[in-house]
Amino acid sequence: MAEKEQQQADPLANGYARSDTEAATANSEELRRQKRKKWLIYGIAFVVFQTAIIVVFSLTVMKVKTPKFRVRSASYNTFEVPQPANNSFAINMDAQFGVKNTNFGPYKYDSATVYFYYNDIQVGSAVIPKSKANFLSTKKINVEVDLSSANVSSNGDLATALNSGILPLTSKSRLNGKVELMLIFKKKKSVDMSCTMDVHISSRELQNVKCK
Ligand SMILES: *[C@@H]1O[C@H](CO)[C@@H](O)[C@H](O)[C@H]1NC(C)=O
Ligand SMILES: *[C@@H]1O[C@H](CO)[C@@H](O)[C@H](O)[C@H]1NC(C)=O
Repeated sequence: MAEKEQQQADPLANGYARSDTEAATANSEELRRQKRKKWLIYGIAFVVFQTAIIVVFSLTVMKVKTPKFRVRSASYNTFEVPQPANNSFAINMDAQFGVKNTNFGPYKYDSATVYFYYNDIQVGSAVIPKSKANFLSTKKINVEVDLSSANVSSNGDLATALNSGILPLTSKSRLNGKVELMLIFKKKKSVDMSCTMDVHISSRELQNVKCK
């Protein structure tokens, strides 16, 4: 038994040098395989990392958010103190509108008209010129607006409002424009304005401006 084992071991012993190079070849083959595996893992990790970056990027930077369009403030030039007796008002105001753009690219919009209403009756309008709101900023637009009760029929409502010292108004408008991202991607975005506000007659202030 022992002899047989030796005989079997002998060829190995004889071919010692050859089997050594074989072992070395097998070893380097193994190393190469491990290297390939390592690169494969690196490759997969890279792809996963890239995908994650693209996903995060598209959810933040490339996500097109709707800008906000609102009345910011107003000051009055001529303010014919509204007369409850003759049921009328005529107010010239410097209104400031804002287009807030939270995108990582500019929002370019066409000219638009803002309408002011009292009790759903149009009492004035203002034209917003074509322009743009830069990325992550608010474009402020100052426009003069004439508010007049010319369209308001002489029902009791206006007199009541004027007597209370508060003239409640609403404003509506729609901006049409495009958000530009990375200088090449353009996405059409329309922005609606829908605000309510109070003109305080005695203090000549615009208060409680609320926009949807
Ligand atoms: C309202 O009536 C007053 C006098 O009662 C007058 O002075 C004023 O100009 C009138 N306002 C309008 C807008 O007609
Ligand atoms: C009155 O209404 C007409 C038509 O709706 C409108 O063209 C006009 O500008 C309005 N007047 C005022 C002072 O808003």
